Amino acid sequence: MNRINFCLLVGALLFVGCNTTKDATAMVKTEEGMSEIVKTYSASPFVRQQMAKMTLADKVGEMTQLSIDVVSVGTPYNLQKPNVLDTAKLREVLVTLKVGSILNCGGYAYTRNEWKHIMTTIQDYAMNQKESGIPVLYGIDAIHGTNYTREATLFPQQLGQASSWNLDLARTCGEVTAYETKASGIPWAFSPVLDIGRDARWPRLWETYGEDPLLARSLGEAYINGMQGDDVSDPNSVATCMKHFLGYSVTLRGKDRTQAWIPHRQLLEYFVPTFQTAIDAGAKTVMINSGEMNGIPVHANSKILVDLLRTELGFEGLAVTDWEDIGYLVGRHRIATDFKDAIRIAINAGIDMAMVPMDTKFPVLLKELVEEGAVPMSRIDESVARILTLKEELKLWDNPVGDLESYTAFASEEHSQKALTAAEESIILAKNENNILPLSKDKNILVVGPNANSLNVLNGGWTGTWQGSDPQYNTTGKKTILEALQARYGKQVITATDDKAVTAAGQADVIVACLGEKTYTEKPGDIDDLDLDPAQVALVKALKETGKPIVLVMIEGRPRIISEIEPLADAVIVGFLPGDEGGEAITNILFGDANPSGKFPITYPKYSNDLICYDHKGTDLVHRDFSMNGFNPQWEFGHGLSYTTFDYSGLTAVKNLKGGIDVTVTVTNSGDRAGKEVVQVYVSDLVASITPSVKRLRAFDKVALESGSSETLSFSISKEDLSFVGIENEWTFEPGEFKVMVGDDEVLLNL
Ligand code: BGC
Repeated sequence: MNRINFCLLVGALLFVGCNTTKDATAMVKTEEGMSEIVKTYSASPFVRQQMAKMTLADKVGEMTQLSIDVVSVGTPYNLQKPNVLDTAKLREVLVTLKVGSILNCGGYAYTRNEWKHIMTTIQDYAMNQKESGIPVLYGIDAIHGTNYTREATLFPQQLGQASSWNLDLARTCGEVTAYETKASGIPWAFSPVLDIGRDARWPRLWETYGEDPLLARSLGEAYINGMQGDDVSDPNSVATCMKHFLGYSVTLRGKDRTQAWIPHRQLLEYFVPTFQTAIDAGAKTVMINSGEMNGIPVHANSKILVDLLRTELGFEGLAVTDWEDIGYLVGRHRIATDFKDAIRIAINAGIDMAMVPMDTKFPVLLKELVEEGAVPMSRIDESVARILTLKEELKLWDNPVGDLESYTAFASEEHSQKALTAAEESIILAKNENNILPLSKDKNILVVGPNANSLNVLNGGWTGTWQGSDPQYNTTGKKTILEALQARYGKQVITATDDKAVTAAGQADVIVACLGEKTYTEKPGDIDDLDLDPAQVALVKALKETGKPIVLVMIEGRPRIISEIEPLADAVIVGFLPGDEGGEAITNILFGDANPSGKFPITYPKYSNDLICYDHKGTDLVHRDFSMNGFNPQWEFGHGLSYTTFDYSGLTAVKNLKGGIDVTVTVTNSGDRAGKEVVQVYVSDLVASITPSVKRLRAFDKVALESGSSETLSFSISKEDLSFVGIENEWTFEPGEFKVMVGDDEVLLNL
């Protein structure tokens, strides 16, 4: 018996007798007679029982996640349609290789019936034909709804949800997505994205909750609570996945999966808090950043994966790689000589499950590495314990697929209504000169532009397919902006191709130009220039010549620069991918059936060489002739207009007993229609030991007010909320003078 097998045996024997569910450590006798403390894992008696029966092959199989491509008829990325599971491959993957997790949909959304067949068959192989009988953990990208199931309810993407600043809506979105994902037999969603969106160029900006840590972590928490509910085993809950730990969103060049250099202070202050809040909220799993940070691929960085994630943040759940990222340690990052070496590095760095996702060699090579002593058994056991714990928590042994007939609210009218409310609240009215909006209902409008008549651009990536660009998977009956306007306002709505738009404008009272971006995500969404497509700029300039008022409707995943045409527009509406109900929502907003209440969750830049967030350091006061360097965005974070007006009064800010700040403020709807307002409390630390931010969002709430009514809101801001990461890279609170700002009012106080 070699050293490893001997350790294994003694270790396993020690665990069988143990029945605590918390961290276990074990004294392990080695062949040389030495004893050592081995950090083991947290596990329930049931999980330990399972583990005691498992062979090494079972264990490395559990740590493997393959794509459905590998068990389907066809070749990877080129499967037979409709999907047919391949029985020989199922046998090989699930029974021989004992693979514990499968993901995604082989390229396009399936019907619920197809999912039912797929999930039942896969679980049947796993539980009835594989010796261990351990069910498969199926995971899917359910990003803005259950977007890989046909006809599912599709919400605004995360940046759109963030534009609503409405925590209840984020929660609802999580609840409905969990319900419809479970209605497809799938218990694990790769969502939400908790990366902070502080670089407008990044092609996944729209997958984030925007640039501010407080806004993002509040929304992330609400969404996770909606998805996981109080009990992740509930038939209406799924396990969430925090993405992508850590530092994925701010690459130097703004391009996907390129290098990020993030100082530790910034990492702690801006990029960790969303994950910390989500961990505290009970998020079950985490996906690792595909890229590299400070010169080290995150999949190989135990300081991030263990010291920070486990020891400091206290995460006990499962860590899965992102797509093919172990393999990339060889070719892209060049820190491993071959795939086997890469597996050794990643598993030893703290990875629990490898999204390989087409490579069936992973479990074979990992087994060899353990047998050769290159990966310790304790590392394997720790990961397997985490994987089985989640399977147990999801009650997969009792009910691996769920009672799929019982989900009668799937894609129901009730769910559509929720998506419509979310879409309406996600839309931002950025500009409205002379109150040109809402339009009176007798106006004739010309609707033009590349985004006027596409449902895909309203939804963006992760819609039916990865890139979201194939209309054949669109939800039946959902309308584009043009279709929704025409359905409601018939002959008053005319349209024209771009080359005929100027002539057609003659018949219209108002021009609605629907511009922005096509669909994309990840690498295919990389751009070299943030400026709006020149053809769209030219279209608006030509339309301006007609003298007709222009409403720009920007449908986009990131803020494309429009400073050249914004002055030509009377009104600007921004929709950060409002989803399937986007056409209806924009129709309602244009004609005043909905009152806009969205606010920017990012700073909308005015120039592509001036990308800076609202909470930049220093001061907005500019030095005499150097005023060019002042903060000069197109629209500020938090900006968004309404068809009514809100007045603020009675702002008070006092030191409370715990040394923080109690704030009260009254907001009054002083206009003539009901509306919703996001009350935003900013605090500025006037002098600190390191350069303070101009201001930071420290509290917010969204209130609905009838015309003429008021509400007094109270906020309590703790000393921790006012802390920053100081010179020693420690969270620091420094007493002194603070300025509290709400609306145009401000109060100074000493803490
Ligand atoms: C993305 C992840 C996604 C995964 C699985 C990756 O390319 O970065 O966000 O969850 O694929 O589809």
